[in-house]
Amino acid sequence: MNSHQIEYTPQQTADGVDTLYSPIYNQTYHSKHGALREAEHVFLVGTGVKQRLLDRQPTRILEVGFGTGLNFLLTAYYSQTHRTPFHYVALENLILPDEILTALNYGEQLQAVEPIRQKFLWWRRNLPVANPVGEFRSDVSQHIRLVMKLGDATTSEIRNESCHAIYHDPFSPTVNPELWTESFFSQLYGALKPEGKLATYSVKGTVRRALQSVGFEVQKRHGPPGKREVLVATKPVRNEH
Ligand SMILES: C[S@@+](CC[C@H](N)C(=O)[O-])C[C@H]1O[C@@H](n2cnc3c(N)ncnc32)[C@H](O)[C@@H]1O
Repeated sequence: MNSHQIEYTPQQTADGVDTLYSPIYNQTYHSKHGALREAEHVFLVGTGVKQRLLDRQPTRILEVGFGTGLNFLLTAYYSQTHRTPFHYVALENLILPDEILTALNYGEQLQAVEPIRQKFLWWRRNLPVANPVGEFRSDVSQHIRLVMKLGDATTSEIRNESCHAIYHDPFSPTVNPELWTESFFSQLYGALKPEGKLATYSVKGTVRRALQSVGFEVQKRHGPPGKREVLVATKPVRNEH
């Protein structure tokens, strides 16, 4: 299916930032209790990316499910305020139409990265077809390298041991099961540096066990508004001796 043929409905969340309802998955892209708070707490704080950017440590991030780009823009915000470069690879199989992305309200804080959003929208508008497949680079700023890997994430080439963090943000395991399997987590494990962290919002037992079975150390932490707990999975440093 083409993303232009789908009826997406924007919805305002509790912190004033918009999310979208997906009729395909029958779920919203973010928590209705606050999309921006969720992005900051679960992904930027959970993986340690916010602290790395505040400490001016160049950072490599992989995101599973780019969606509206909210996690990316919030990362760009901290990169910009602390002049820290970052490299972002996003996996997405149904990139949203630019008219939908343009209409979304990302809130006051992200006004600071509006020029980056505009460059991304320009890039989106100029894609060769509505829903392309393949690897595309989007030049949004001198300090940000954004690579979009469009197509099914389970078949994307992602093994390279170079990421500090993974934002694992698909829809829920019930409706988007292919991105919560042992085999997919094993690919994500391969993409991380030792001590790298994967953050996700589901604490289901099946998810924790799948992460542990491929080698992650898994910890629950307190959640953002509306969610009691979320998950951080760390790739341990292997001592071979
Ligand atoms: C919860 S939304 C992501 C929200 C996003 N991180 C944001 O900040 O807006 C989940 C995303 O995963 C994408 N997705 C679902 N299945 C996928 C697959 N097999 N491969 C790649 N992307 C997929 C959906 O199209 C959707 O954009």
